Amino acid sequence: MKNINTQVCPVALSGSLDNSIRKWLQNPEKILRPYITEGMTVLDVGCGPGFFSIEMARMVGKSGRVIAADLQEGMLQKLNEKVKGTELEERILLHKCGEDNIGVSEPLDFVLLFYIVHEVPNKEHFFNEIRTILKPQGQVLIVEPPFHVSKSAFEETIRKAGRAGLIVIERPKMFFSRAVLLKKG
Ligand SMILES: C[S@@+](CC[C@H](N)C(=O)[O-])C[C@H]1O[C@@H](n2cnc3c(N)ncnc32)[C@H](O)[C@@H]1O
Repeated sequence: MKNINTQVCPVALSGSLDNSIRKWLQNPEKILRPYITEGMTVLDVGCGPGFFSIEMARMVGKSGRVIAADLQEGMLQKLNEKVKGTELEERILLHKCGEDNIGVSEPLDFVLLFYIVHEVPNKEHFFNEIRTILKPQGQVLIVEPPFHVSKSAFEETIRKAGRAGLIVIERPKMFFSRAVLLKKG
């Protein structure tokens, strides 16, 4: 039987990831403000329809870059439709991940992993790849949904990140979420 917690969120559900109620409950600007500044190169892995990528593009400004990466072409298309023809289009690079790798090589100031890690089968490999592309002072924010990810499963994720060389900076409080901020050890 398939484990529901590691199933990839279908494109048909993308509307539930990007709407005004979520924006009110999980405001991307408020969540990301402490970590992203102008000029940064940032990565949103498992960007989905771009609920966070779009705000990230505003925050990095004209001189920054957002790499919006997802396994599913359909999710990237949803994001593309939203930014096409706007000033944010040139700040966002859409990137299709491979089945077993992210496939990004740019040095990164910040990586967002929002509601994605529980969908990744080989987490240690995934975290290893992130550590290699993170700048020395770069940070990684992992946020997971509490219904899909138990407290103990989240602690196991943090241990796996630790084995890949990512250490805990803090555990931010976030509505309806388990969250941790990491950096290179
Ligand atoms: C629940 S959605 C979250 C989307 C977005 N982060 C948000 O919070 O609105 C998870 C997304 O991660 C993507 N995903 C799952 N496994 C992935 C992987 N190994 N690499 C890249 N993207 C992945 C899925 O395609 C889906 O778009």
